[in-house]
Amino acid sequence: MEFYDVIRKRRSYRAYRAEMPEEEKVNRILNAARLAPTWANMQGMHYIVVKDPETVKRVWKGVGQSQKFVEAPMFIVGVISESDSGKNSSGLECFPLDCGICFEHLILAATAEGLATCWIGWFNETKVKEVLEIPKKYRVLALTPLGYPVREKGEVVDRKPIEEIVHYNKF
Ligand SMILES: Cc1cc2nc3c(=O)[nH]c(=O)nc-3n(C[C@H](O)[C@H](O)[C@H](O)COP(=O)(O)O)c2cc1C
Repeated sequence: MEFYDVIRKRRSYRAYRAEMPEEEKVNRILNAARLAPTWANMQGMHYIVVKDPETVKRVWKGVGQSQKFVEAPMFIVGVISESDSGKNSSGLECFPLDCGICFEHLILAATAEGLATCWIGWFNETKVKEVLEIPKKYRVLALTPLGYPVREKGEVVDRKPIEEIVHYNKF
């Protein structure tokens, strides 16, 4: 799929068909995340691929949202440790940025493969860590269901006009 088509077609899907995505597609998606840039190329991200139906249900319970995510055949959970990234010149921690960039690579690659995702940022981190046996030093910052959508959505339209967000030479 052409790059700008991928950008326009990526939407958040909250209802999934039971069909498992093809393994080659999942591998290509994970590789796209692997190739993302990170702070000093530290590559701190880890991805937990959850396919076991019982674990999928337990992860969804940890998410605790009333969406139909539980019907998704699988989840990918992104984790990173603060110690596997750096601080920027203002002293701000960059591990959430590393995670965001890697995870967006993953999500756009999934779109290019014709698969549906939904960034999930609101979940019970303690429960998700417990279910997936994630060591203490890692933070869970992002997770997404992965699969085929029940219904395709249209392209992204509900965004602010460009004049409102782009500034030239001064704010
Ligand atoms: C960091 C982040 C966290 C998000 N967390 C959630 C979430 O917890 N639950 C949810 O249903 N959608 C979540 N979303 C999806 C947004 O609501 C969605 O991207 C936005 O409404 C725009 O819709 P679109 O993705 O279909 O273009 C999240 C998106 C981002 C980028």
